[in-house]
Amino acid sequence: MKKIIVELGERSYPIYAGNDLLGKENLFSENIKSRQVMVVSNTTVAPLYLEKVMQSLKGFDTASVILEDGEQYKTLAAVNDIITALLEKRFSRNSCLVALGGGVVGDITGFAAACYQRGIDFVQIPTTVLAQVDSSVGGKTGVNHAAGKNMIGAFHQPQAVIADTSVLDTLDDREVSAGLAEVLKYGLIRDAGFFDWIEDNVDSLVNREPEALAYIIEQSCSNKADIVAEDERESGVRALLNLGHTFGHAIETGLGYGTWLHGEAIALGMLMAADLSRRMGWIEKEVCERIESMLLKLKLPVTLPDNFDPEKMRELMSVDKKAKDGVLFLILLKGIGEAVVTDEFDEDLLMETLNHFASNNSSSSEGKG
Ligand code: NAD
Ligand code: GLY
Repeated sequence: MKKIIVELGERSYPIYAGNDLLGKENLFSENIKSRQVMVVSNTTVAPLYLEKVMQSLKGFDTASVILEDGEQYKTLAAVNDIITALLEKRFSRNSCLVALGGGVVGDITGFAAACYQRGIDFVQIPTTVLAQVDSSVGGKTGVNHAAGKNMIGAFHQPQAVIADTSVLDTLDDREVSAGLAEVLKYGLIRDAGFFDWIEDNVDSLVNREPEALAYIIEQSCSNKADIVAEDERESGVRALLNLGHTFGHAIETGLGYGTWLHGEAIALGMLMAADLSRRMGWIEKEVCERIESMLLKLKLPVTLPDNFDPEKMRELMSVDKKAKDGVLFLILLKGIGEAVVTDEFDEDLLMETLNHFASNNSSSSEGKG
């Protein structure tokens, strides 16, 4: 088992990554200070892993809430369901929530923990690749609004993250690939050596070889822990973690939440950000080709969905947390391993990028979403 610390002074916390961690009672007893513990999961993950987690929590006073599964249920209503359950069970201010699931369960549960009685403890047990490499670490919590993705939320750090790699066995291939998109992101924004490693080992990742998956989870968590320690509230370097997200969130909102997977939308968003960077003259065509080739090997989309209107997408891109005083900021590339946050992109070139990915959409996007 690896242990990585997110260094945030008094609020520092460990990320544990390894095989068969759900059954390790001591990980729970050492990291949960509360007596009352409520586990939040969903209708897919609970039948698979809730009992095992409850066994490991048998020394606590426990309860559980099971949410509907899906990005379309990442809403204030789900937060309300958790808070209702906490109130009905008379959970006090020093109780703890445990998020058992992917990024959706993690984001909702973290936000409920941030809100309940002005903030209670929570522990993340991420069960998807995406959640193990990204969403469970760093304390961004929240839910969607019909008009914009992740528009309601709070920063609220967990007490611990327990990433059990054995639970990935039950995940389908499409979800694994979607998670790998966020892994590529670390290579693109700050770790060129990691990007090269992923390129060289992409077949092992597609074949879900345990050593390869363990390696990318560890490297991703180390990268993310460093970034969060440097810039917890996203006033600087953390914004780079949003590479591809302004494009990707517009796709998710435009299509309807849950149509494309989050990681699929981010994958194409990163390629679009690279394409705009190339049009700006900041990177060579070869960089775009390397990214596109990786996405194709991972069976991730490289074109927009059919009939996706570029003008409408541009409008949706304006509903973005990085917009300041109505000005849109994008994360663009200056090379592999080097990204910038900038409002100095050419609006006409952005429209060229949007049109290019819309007009290209007959072949390789087939079967997606
Ligand atoms: P998800 O939570 O919807 O999980 C994907 C699917 O896999 C779901 O159907 C889920 O029930 C199922 N599942 C989960 N674990 C499983 C397992 N072990 N076996 C079988 N099925 C399993 O999606 P996700 O990709 O994990 O997360 C996406 C969400 O994360 C988005 O809402 C995104 O906005 C958010 N996110 C948040 C951050 C952050 O910093 N907070 C970062 C990145 C993404
Ligand atoms: N996934 C973006 C962040 O955590 O900042």
